[in-house]
Order: sequence, then structure tokens, then C-alpha cells
Amino acid sequence: MALHLSPSFCLFSITITFILVYVPTSVSAIHAKYENCIAPFRCANLENIEYPFWGASRPEYCGYPSYRLDCEGEVAEISIMERSCRVLDINNSNGTLTVALEDYWDDLCPSNLVDGTLNSSFFNYTSDTENITLYYHCPPPVKDISAALLPFKFNCSSEETDTNNYYFIWGNDRFNSNILYTISNYFENCGTNVTIPVRQSAFLFLKRYPASANVSKALKEGFDLQWYANSTLCDKCKDSGGLCGFDTDTDEFTCYCPDMPYSMTCPSKGTSHLFIHYLCITEFP
Ligand SMILES: *[C@@H]1O[C@H](CO)[C@@H](O)[C@H](O)[C@H]1NC(C)=O
Ligand SMILES: *[C@@H]1O[C@H](CO)[C@@H](O)[C@H](O)[C@H]1NC(C)=O
Ligand SMILES: *[C@@H]1O[C@H](CO)[C@@H](O)[C@H](O)[C@H]1NC(C)=O
Ligand SMILES: *[C@@H]1O[C@H](CO)[C@@H](O)[C@H](O)[C@H]1NC(C)=O
Ligand SMILES: *[C@@H]1O[C@H](CO)[C@@H](O)[C@H](O)[C@H]1NC(C)=O
Ligand SMILES: *[C@@H]1O[C@H](CO)[C@@H](O)[C@H](O)[C@H]1NC(C)=O
Ligand SMILES: *[C@@H]1O[C@H](CO)[C@@H](O)[C@H](O)[C@H]1NC(C)=O
Ligand SMILES: *[C@@H]1O[C@H](CO)[C@@H](O)[C@H](O)[C@H]1NC(C)=O
Ligand SMILES: *[C@@H]1O[C@H](CO)[C@@H](O)[C@H](O)[C@H]1NC(C)=O
Repeated sequence: MALHLSPSFCLFSITITFILVYVPTSVSAIHAKYENCIAPFRCANLENIEYPFWGASRPEYCGYPSYRLDCEGEVAEISIMERSCRVLDINNSNGTLTVALEDYWDDLCPSNLVDGTLNSSFFNYTSDTENITLYYHCPPPVKDISAALLPFKFNCSSEETDTNNYYFIWGNDRFNSNILYTISNYFENCGTNVTIPVRQSAFLFLKRYPASANVSKALKEGFDLQWYANSTLCDKCKDSGGLCGFDTDTDEFTCYCPDMPYSMTCPSKGTSHLFIHYLCITEFP
């Protein structure tokens, strides 16, 4: 299908191109959403936060819905699978954030023993993540393992009597398989168990220096999560000179360009005009 352009259309398009190319800033206004999303923001202890995060003064359309930060207190928080997490760090360049579970911050015995496993389509553990397991309300240990388990024991201050709570690191090479088997059977009889992610470095450290004081430290270091907020689309949008965002009307990713929002990327400057010139030249040489 050939495009048929009249000479007067060519003259018109050349004039428009001239106006757009030579007098752009005085004519077109910067779109308000582009203007509102351009500066990275600050949230509690964190600075230079960008898409997909939003919260505090940062409107939702500058971020992605599941990435709302609570900036009220001294530490930024995010809710993931209904668990409140402290945000210790955000790395925009590799798309990761470091979080610690609020419930287990400075407290191995929260009143609500929530499992720390996060199964979210918006976040994923990085390869640096390992698990530790906490066992609560266990029966008194049988004699053959009570000494072995001693370094893994912790007390809950809320409990008046000495109870049997343990953390454990599976894949532990300090025990032979017979003892591991007995330990595993013993833990079956505990009241509750929860899985908590920790960094690999903290995991290896705990393996070497098991002690309840060191567990609290490991939990405070948090663990890393990779985020998924249309990151591929976002990279393309940024490469085209846009800012990533979210269209709250269509519930989809959007790319804010200086003139207006686009669904994917900013139109490259002048390409469409060059195309018309090309057609004019080839059709009316
Ligand atoms: C991303 O950066 C964080 C620190 O900012 C680091 O801990 C993490 O290992 C990095 N992840 C990757 C995949 O490079
Ligand atoms: C963010 O991650 C990148 C890639 O892993 C790393 O080079 C950089 O140092 C990290 N930035 C911070 C502030 O940790
Ligand atoms: C994790 O999430 C996926 C999809 O949301 C779901 O199919 C799966 O059952 C979940 N797994 C657990 C253990 O909750
Ligand atoms: C998270 O990682 C797992 C295993 O590496 C992978 O199967 C899953 O697709 C990832 N989730 C997302 C949202 O990419
Ligand atoms: C940690 O535990 C969760 C839930 O049981 C599991 O999905 C994940 O694969 C475990 N991670 C590691 C490194 O073992
Ligand atoms: C737990 O409490 C008991 C009794 O107060 C004490 O003897 C024990 O050392 C405590 N254990 C740890 C790991 O703090
Ligand atoms: C941990 O608790 C789950 C139920 O939440 C149970 O199915 C599992 O057997 C327990 N693990 C151990 C080692 O006792
Ligand atoms: C914790 O780790 C240190 C190593 O930094 C180790 O010397 C110590 O015995 C461990 N236990 C306690 C209770 O601090
Ligand atoms: C953007 O991400 C959401 C959630 O992960 C996904 O459902 C959607 O398909 C993505 N959109 C595009 C255009 O990739």
C-alpha cells in the first residue's frame, strides 16, 4: 500500500517540523507527571529512591502499586505478603533491596510467630539468600542431643519458665547423619516452626559460631530481594529519555516523556518527521 502525499501536505509537514525542531521549548509545556516524577525521593533513612518505589510525598503514578514505602518512622518499611519489612538498603542499579522482617527485629519471640518465607510475584530472593528455621515450644530434648543442641537454644523473655526453643541451620556439617536424624525427629514435636531468610554470609557465620546472640545479629542484617516491576520495559523507557511510572486508570506500566505519557517509550525525536521528508523526497523528487 503506497502512501500518497500531496505537495501541499509536504510543505505543511516541513513547516510543522520546522516549528517543532526550532521552537520546541517555548511551545510545548513539560507534562506535570514527568515533572513530579523526575527527582528521586527520600524516605525515612533512605535517599535517592526511584521507580518502582513511591510513598510519602511521592505519588503512586511515579511508582508501581506493590512498591509503596511507609516513610513515617525512622526506618522505611514495605509490606510484602502482609509482612512488614524494614528496608535497610535499595540498590537502583541492580534492582535489589535489603529487608529485615519487622517482627523478628530485636526479638526472636514475637507474639505473632509469622513465617518469614515471602512468596511474592513482585519480589524474589537473590542467590545470596539462605534459610534458618526457628522451633518454638519444643519438649525437653532427649539426652543424646541435648548437649549438641545447646548452642542453638534461645530463651523467650516473655516466658517465665525455661522453655525449649531452638534455631537450626539445616545442611549443618557439624553433626553426623545419626544425630541429624534424631534432631530432625525431635523438632517434629515442637509446637511451631518458622523459616526465616538470611544472607549467605550471616548463614555461614552462624554455622561457625552458633549462639542465640549471633542469630539476632544475623536477622538484623536482613536479606536481599530482587524486584520485578516491568524492569525490562522500564529500561527501554529510560533509554528513550522517559521516566517509568504506572497508569492508575489502565493499571499498566507507563512511560512519562517530557511532552506526555506513552505506553512504552518516548518517540525518538524527529524520526516521524524524517520519515515524512523521506516520503516527500521519494514521491516528489
Ligand atoms: C546488588 O547490590 C547489593 C548492595 O547494594 C548487593 O548486596 C547485592 O549482592 C547486589 N546484587 C547483585 C545481583 O549484584
Ligand atoms: C549496587 O549494585 C551494583 C551491582 O551489583 C554495585 O556495583 C553497586 O556498588 C551497588 N551500589 C551500592 C550503593 O551498594
Ligand atoms: C506461591 O505463589 C504462587 C503464585 O502466587 C502459588 O501458586 C503458590 O501456591 C504459592 N506457594 C506457597 C507455598 O504459598
Ligand atoms: C524467582 O526465582 C525462581 C527460582 O529462581 C523462579 O522460578 C521464579 O520464576 C522467579 N520469580 C520471578 C517473579 O521471576
Ligand atoms: C528457603 O525456604 C523456602 C520455603 O521453605 C524455600 O522456598 C526456599 O527454596 C529456601 N531457600 C533455600 C536457599 O533453601
Ligand atoms: C535461658 O534461661 C535459663 C534460665 O534463666 C538460663 O539458665 C539459660 O542460660 C538461658 N539460655 C540462653 C541461651 O540465654
Ligand atoms: C514445621 O511446621 C510445619 C507446619 O507448619 C510441619 O508440617 C513441619 O513438619 C514442621 N517441621 C518440622 C521439622 O517439625
Ligand atoms: C558470636 O560470634 C562471635 C564471633 O564474632 C563468637 O566469638 C561468639 O562466640 C559467638 N557467640 C556469642 C554468644 O557471641
Ligand atoms: C508488568 O508487570 C506485571 C506484574 O509483574 C505483569 O502482570 C504485567 O504483565 C507486566 N506488563 C508488561 C507489559 O510486561
